[in-house]
Amino acid sequence: MPRYELIKDEIASIAKYVPGKSIEDIVQTYGLEPSSIIKLGSNENPLGPSPKAVEALIENAQGISIYPSADARELVDAISEYTDIPAANIVASGPGMDGLLDGLARLVITNGDEVVITTPTFSYYEIAARANGATTVYVQREKDFSINVDKLLAAITPNTKIIFLCSPNNPSGNVIPEEDILKIAAATDALVFVDEAYVEFAEKNVAHLVPQHDNIIVGRTFSKAFGLAGMRMGYGIMPEWLREEYMKIATPFNVSTAAMAAGIAALSDIEHLNKSIELAVKGKKFLQEELPFKVYDTQANFVLVDVAPHKARDVTNELLKKGIIVRDCTSFAHAGVSLIRVTIGTREQNEKVVKAFSDI
Ligand SMILES: Cc1ncc(COP(=O)(O)O)c(C=O)c1O
Repeated sequence: MPRYELIKDEIASIAKYVPGKSIEDIVQTYGLEPSSIIKLGSNENPLGPSPKAVEALIENAQGISIYPSADARELVDAISEYTDIPAANIVASGPGMDGLLDGLARLVITNGDEVVITTPTFSYYEIAARANGATTVYVQREKDFSINVDKLLAAITPNTKIIFLCSPNNPSGNVIPEEDILKIAAATDALVFVDEAYVEFAEKNVAHLVPQHDNIIVGRTFSKAFGLAGMRMGYGIMPEWLREEYMKIATPFNVSTAAMAAGIAALSDIEHLNKSIELAVKGKKFLQEELPFKVYDTQANFVLVDVAPHKARDVTNELLKKGIIVRDCTSFAHAGVSLIRVTIGTREQNEKVVKAFSDI
């Protein structure tokens, strides 16, 4: 018999996290050949990982019987060099940036606190916050998915602990202007978390703001541009005072020996990174020109497509039958029922996507 009474009250009402569909899901449902399936639902890198990261994994395979360094110092130093931000402001996190979100929520949130979330956006902020007792306050983005700063500031109360800002935003791909982030940070005692999971594809980032501000945090990941989603590794750039507190509660050894080796090698392979970015930029142009629906502009490795008057659910199901996995955004709060997020793939994949959408 399930013993639901053991589960914390605040968790009972949380909706399940909805991940992008996996290749295995589609093989099982539609009986397709795994090699024929195009996976463009989770914003992974269509070029795969850097060959240097794969080599580093193999070279370090013998070392996996030994615990990694507890604070991932070698990786932190490599991130510091890559970002030009002092190591004192950096924490490496696992699993992925999700691990960082979880750690921060555990660090600052207790029952009765509030977090502000600008919807539609990445859903794990809400899960991490609510699991620790927070109430979520939604501030809906404008029609073009920009944030109305005055509306956001009006949603802040003395109980607000974290304001989550995703830039470029998942699923819309637009960035938040730096002056807006500064205005929000200056107007609140809460932490302002800027999720830069897709920042390598964007024109600008805000990491440089962190060392001069005591409440701005930037989250990053190796899952997207670096092509290491399976290694589950991210990092946070945060004020020194907060890093010291965070390290008290971070799960020890949360970045594995293997992930660290791959991450350090990936950071050193700027050529692979640039190739990945170029592919996304070219593919974006192609998809914007060729898809027969409204495509929003993006600074990420995905495009948001509005298939109205069709339903996103129906269109994604049609595409799945053809072996193309894209993301139906209906489960994102305030996204409506006609938005689909498509990861920008290789030229060949993009052509197949355009054909499939056009057939519909
Ligand atoms: C905006 C955003 N933030 C965070 C994450 C989580 O990244 P990670 O794979 O590092 O946990 C994702 C993953 O899809 C994302 O889209």
